[in-house]
Amino acid sequence: MLEPSVSTHKNLSHSLGNLTSFENTENGIIGKTEQANFKVLIYTDNTVRIHITFTDTYDENPYSVITKPEKTSFTIDDNDNAVIISLPKFDLQITKENTRFTFLDKTGKVINQDDPGFGTSRIGEQITTYKSLQEGERFIGMGEKTGPLDRKGHGYQHWNTDYFGYPEEGDPLYCSTPFYIGVHSGLSYGIFLDNSHKTHFNFGASNNRFSSFAADSGDMNYYFIHDENVGEIIKAYSVLTGKMSLPPLWSIGYQQCRYSYYPDKEVTTLAQTFRDKDIPADVIVLDIHYMEKYKIFTWDGERFPDPQTMIKTLQERGFHIVVMCDPGIKIEEGYGPYHSGNDEDIFVKYPDNTPYSGEVWPGWCHFPDFTNPKARTWWEENLKVYTDIGIDGFWNDMNEIATWGQMLPELIEFDFDGDKATARKGRNVYGMQMARSTYEGTKNLMGNKRPFNLTRAGFSGIQRYAAVWTGDNVATDEHMLLGVRLVNSMGLAGVPFAGYDVGGFVGNATEYLFARWIQIGAFSPFFRGHSMINSRDSEPWAYGEEVEEISRNYIKLRYKLMPYIYGLFKEAADTGMPVVRSLAIDYTHTPLVYQEAYQNQYTMGDSILVAPVESTKELTKVFLPEGDWYELFTDKQYSGDQEIVAECPIEQLPLFVKGSAILPLYPDAGDNTQEKGDVLELHIYKGKESNTFTYYEDDGTSYDYEQDNFYERKIDYAPEENVIRISKINGKYNSAISTLKVCLHGFDDTTYSQNDQPVEAVNKSYQFVEPISNFDPIYAAEEPRLKIDSIKTITCANSDEEIIISW
Ligand code: NOJ
Repeated sequence: MLEPSVSTHKNLSHSLGNLTSFENTENGIIGKTEQANFKVLIYTDNTVRIHITFTDTYDENPYSVITKPEKTSFTIDDNDNAVIISLPKFDLQITKENTRFTFLDKTGKVINQDDPGFGTSRIGEQITTYKSLQEGERFIGMGEKTGPLDRKGHGYQHWNTDYFGYPEEGDPLYCSTPFYIGVHSGLSYGIFLDNSHKTHFNFGASNNRFSSFAADSGDMNYYFIHDENVGEIIKAYSVLTGKMSLPPLWSIGYQQCRYSYYPDKEVTTLAQTFRDKDIPADVIVLDIHYMEKYKIFTWDGERFPDPQTMIKTLQERGFHIVVMCDPGIKIEEGYGPYHSGNDEDIFVKYPDNTPYSGEVWPGWCHFPDFTNPKARTWWEENLKVYTDIGIDGFWNDMNEIATWGQMLPELIEFDFDGDKATARKGRNVYGMQMARSTYEGTKNLMGNKRPFNLTRAGFSGIQRYAAVWTGDNVATDEHMLLGVRLVNSMGLAGVPFAGYDVGGFVGNATEYLFARWIQIGAFSPFFRGHSMINSRDSEPWAYGEEVEEISRNYIKLRYKLMPYIYGLFKEAADTGMPVVRSLAIDYTHTPLVYQEAYQNQYTMGDSILVAPVESTKELTKVFLPEGDWYELFTDKQYSGDQEIVAECPIEQLPLFVKGSAILPLYPDAGDNTQEKGDVLELHIYKGKESNTFTYYEDDGTSYDYEQDNFYERKIDYAPEENVIRISKINGKYNSAISTLKVCLHGFDDTTYSQNDQPVEAVNKSYQFVEPISNFDPIYAAEEPRLKIDSIKTITCANSDEEIIISW
């Protein structure tokens, strides 16, 4: 027997009570219960929004969801016990007794259901939805959250926090994306709690009965998504909250940062060292010491007397500069932004109308209210000092808001685009609105050039404005692997462009830790070395010759793979599919994927499997999911769905390629991403499934691709027809590629034709990385260890016509 549905004692929890009335609307229903009001809005075939308030008005978060309900066909059936709304992808059943929500698939299986006793209820202002735990249910996603891949048994908060050197289970961190994916009995679904107040998620951490999500204030406003697989769920979430726009190509090259490089000569020497040492790099990042006494929009005149000339010199060497942007505006007589900010009344304020002050790098500061359109315009005007001298990369830091003492008063007020709110609602979106102001501002200022924007804090939808990095990590093996999980988890939460400080921010990496971190970082979407003030030097050459060679190898490998990686960025920008994918995306219902030993594994795209491993190991267990696999460096073949032991001496990160993969790559890495050469290799791995990859190229810097100025070719591998088809060119961009080399892995000795004419397939050995010098007897073998004995190569001119290779 259920307890009475409505408690009357003011200090206890209050549930919704029975459904008392409802009416159909264009996009769903609106209804009343004994205690609350609610709306059900059908957004698309696979997405429905449940919005419940215990008051008479509805509270909205204006910043995350950018779509409105679409015209979707659905039916509403009102029977004695329940209201049933049928969408193309699932049914929603709302019981009249106690108003419980149950989501069922089209065969009637329960996907997700309210806890029958609790449903949605409130305690004071806090509002919670309780869901019955399903048999074998797992929970993944939630973005920048520590802990394991499967979050079952754990609880988390979303409350953007500056967390220096956070411990391995530390929570909450800098960026909040309250979106998770539940998985059980062959089904998966997503829940996005669209409420920017502090929120709490409990994935069966209290008991075996329920999972729950709660907001300290505001409404229960959540989106439920169900589709065939996790990938479709991420795409649907990305439809709701928006997609990353295609970043400039240079920003996915290697970025070198530290806290801080100065003066200007150190910066130019650093750049030259990359070139002298033949280590590709695209970016040097300037941390706070470039400013005069840490005041944003200024330069330290002694350290950087002529930034414009320095930037020009660096640009000539193929480098872009990213500058630190902190939100705090120093309270100082004579400092322009302090006066103009006051004059234009754009600072965050207390209820008594005095500006809020907090102490951070420059001393006492005021903070622009980025939820105020006036402040966003003011910010843009100020950013002009950077764009005018050729800076095209921006790093939004300390935007939680971080201050000494970490106590952001909850009563301070934010404009919220006219619908004022306190920090209780504003704190989690502040960083995102700062990133938005920087992104939109610099985009306006830079005309047809794409800015690169990075942020530490964010909220759901942040992917529209910036890449996100995981803040102040620590130089340990555990943190290196944690960073991988954080980035994979951000991919599950719609943020495809993410990364960590390679080498570790806090503390000193050992030689091998740095080497391993560079290897793994080469397969991270955002790839930047960074370390803290007073820590050891941490450039790729700072850890001795062996590590330098390893670093060169892997940074070059990333640059060689750039056609593949840029293609994945384009796909992410178009669909929201992450660049790096936890195995839980494509192999969701394979239990081994969630085991501690394998939970860090991921694929870049769907073809390269990365098995991150500690710096201290020379052998590691790897789980190869279903399918056929090739070890990247040697072409050794494995059948999938098995655990193997892989070699991982320090020169070798375990990397595997899936059968049927199509990897476009440049045979030689240039100094920077603009140096692409004129040869494109298409590596095809023999497999059973047909596969397609779209090769995508554009100028890498402008928005001309939006006007068809791109170069696109679809590559199809159809094993059952014994054919590879390279489609005609789509788009107007003039690619410099004049030669295509089709490189066949695992293919037989037979006769090959190109467009029905016999063609020679030359047998050649192949190396993805250079052998490293003989520092250790293990490398002393005459033959390089990491070498493929033979692949077949067919060379063709890159004509505009369709190219068909058959055998
Ligand atoms: C905090 C950031 O997380 C770190 O990366 C940066 O170096 C320091 N702020 C100094 O700006």
